[in-house]
Amino acid sequence: MSQPVHVTVTGAAGQIGYALLFRIASGQMLGADTPVRLRLLEIPQAVKAAEGTAMELDDCAFPTLDGVDIFDDARAAFDGTNVALLVGARPRTAGMERGDLLSANGGIFKPQGEAINAGAADDVRVLVVGNPANTNALIAQQHAPDVPADRFTAMTRLDHNRAVSQLATRTGARVADIARVTIWGNHSATQYPDLSHATVGGRPALEVVADDAWVTGTFIPTVAKRGAAIIEARGASSAASAANAAIDHVRSWVHGTPAGDWTSAGVVSDGSYGVPEGLISSFPVTSEGGAWRIVQGLEVDGSSRARIDASVAELVEERDAVRVLGLV
Ligand code: NAI
Repeated sequence: MSQPVHVTVTGAAGQIGYALLFRIASGQMLGADTPVRLRLLEIPQAVKAAEGTAMELDDCAFPTLDGVDIFDDARAAFDGTNVALLVGARPRTAGMERGDLLSANGGIFKPQGEAINAGAADDVRVLVVGNPANTNALIAQQHAPDVPADRFTAMTRLDHNRAVSQLATRTGARVADIARVTIWGNHSATQYPDLSHATVGGRPALEVVADDAWVTGTFIPTVAKRGAAIIEARGASSAASAANAAIDHVRSWVHGTPAGDWTSAGVVSDGSYGVPEGLISSFPVTSEGGAWRIVQGLEVDGSSRARIDASVAELVEERDAVRVLGLV
């Protein structure tokens, strides 16, 4: 076996952390031949809970798990790390204004970006899961000037997976037969789940579905509001599917996307598709050689353009709000 890959998980004692850590430790993220050293970051009040999770990780006796370290200090947690999963975030509480939410999260993601800049390994790859994920990723990236910007990403893979699943169910196809689904924009209710380039068993999805009203009236809102529907049904937010999406995102990043297909991820815009350069927005992406590439040359029709623009406008607003707060 090779040298262990160091994986830092923030918010390790939270719901997603509990669904995520065991899968990373068992080799589902980086592969059965890659040993993993887990570095858990929590706030001091939750360190004891993280210790309990670490005991359970020990008790699984995973051959791929090299060990678990627990920290309440970001500098120590990110020191030498290769993969950073930023899950812990400040949730919106009753009566909290958006500015307060962005400011509270800035207080988390700014120092974490600085800590990654100061001590992470040269090949560090960062996935931000904690909401508002795109803007939190932007804040962290802006405070890590020595790390290539394209190493900072935000998670829209859960939205992507939700869209694939909805399309498979509607068409009676298998998930494996669905390709080229795209999530554009922000990981929020303004996101645009786009089927215009998707295929089902190699045929254009929109032709197979042949029902525009379903696409605009059911598919798009179901995907965009799925998180709320799960909270309503389960009484708790989607944790296992979010953890699964984080695993998928990193696995695609490290091991690549299949030929002829793509996935969705929040990556730093290079100005493609009219998305302002520097914003962290979801795009159709492929991964090769450990780097994401935005799929180029897709035709964007008028209605897609309007939906992409609306979600990107929200990202611009969030960026401007954190700029006023001096966070970017
Ligand atoms: P949770 O509340 O169960 O856990 C969050 C954990 O983060 C807590 O243990 C808390 O102590 C910890 N934490 C808070 N501040 C921290 C800091 N500064 N450093 C380290 N740890 C810190 O929440 P859950 O369900 O695990 O969700 C985590 C985040 O993921 C939320 O922001 C949620 O909105 C987001 N999310 C994102 C999704 C996406 O698709 N991008 C999907 C689902 C959830």
